[in-house]
Amino acid sequence: MMRKSLVGLLRSNLLAILFFIGIALALESGPTRGAPPGSPWGADYFPNINLVNQDGKDVRFYDDLIKGKVVVINFIFTNCKLSCSLETARLRHLQALLGDRVGSDVFIYSITIDPAHDTPAVLKEYAEKFGVAPGWQFLTGKEADITLLRRKLGLLGSQDPADQLDNHNLSVLVGNEATGRWTKRSLGDNSQVLVNLIGYQMQNKRMQREEQKSYADAREIQGFSRGNYLFNTRCSSCHTIGAGDRLGPDLLQVTSQRDRDWLFRWIKEPDVVLAEKDPIALALYQKFKELSMPNLQLSDIDVAALIDYLEKQSRLITSSNESK
Ligand code: HEC
Repeated sequence: MMRKSLVGLLRSNLLAILFFIGIALALESGPTRGAPPGSPWGADYFPNINLVNQDGKDVRFYDDLIKGKVVVINFIFTNCKLSCSLETARLRHLQALLGDRVGSDVFIYSITIDPAHDTPAVLKEYAEKFGVAPGWQFLTGKEADITLLRRKLGLLGSQDPADQLDNHNLSVLVGNEATGRWTKRSLGDNSQVLVNLIGYQMQNKRMQREEQKSYADAREIQGFSRGNYLFNTRCSSCHTIGAGDRLGPDLLQVTSQRDRDWLFRWIKEPDVVLAEKDPIALALYQKFKELSMPNLQLSDIDVAALIDYLEKQSRLITSSNESK
């Protein structure tokens, strides 16, 4: 009698447990759930416009791109002569830091604001120049739809159509559609802070212990200089000093390899130097997949500070390599 009822009890508990596991699994693996009904930032808010990605695939903005996902969205155009390529390089660096999480629990979308020029093929070529990995789509569509989307996402920028392209809003929108948490950020922010925001806070995850770096591993603080600051915020997504080529060439020893006036002009106005068909510039441009270094609109003081920094870092790195 006792035994029977115990077995009965166990059996019914087991059934209950299986039942709950079943529900939990169904919730986990069921269709992607978007924001709950009544959320101000759900299907009713986001326009479900048609877009086409760099591979020519048709997608819908709400249903296919953001519903139930953690996403990073910005607006670009491939013909941009000013800082947009710096933004794409920064986003590429962020993608590298997030690793294979991009495409599994984080999705990146760069949407063109110049759809007449930026066809899927043009976007594909642009993505390839920056070595973009899977999980990051480049999208085009109808101009009116894209303008509506920019307005809804709060990334419209200048209202004057004459300078729409040059003054477009460079912020990125980061959000978790399911929880309705959205925030605007600049890609110029510290990249570890962005990784933490996108990879952890937005996901309601805590960083794993082993992912948190120990203070003992931290690099020595080298005393902040203007050149150091400028290099880290404007150049390091494309260049390293002594750690190999990135999107642009490794700049170790560049101060001794190039004529000082040439270097100064190049950093200040690379677009003009290239347009003059300067032979060094042309050779570099061809070597680096025809990705042009952007004119970052630096002042003479900034350029001088950068050259000084490049020179000091090169000396430091070379002498520490020699003493090894
Ligand atoms: C978007 C990527 C990008 C950014 C940002 C960028 N560069 Fe470049 N840089 C390049 C590329 C690519 C080249 C190769 C030439 C070309 O294709 O235009 C280059 C070339 C150079 C060269 C010439 C190297 C040589 O061998 O002579 C120097 C010097 C240089 N960059 C310095 C800088 C500095 C300093 C900054 C920051 C103020 C910077 N770059 C920002 C992409 C970039």
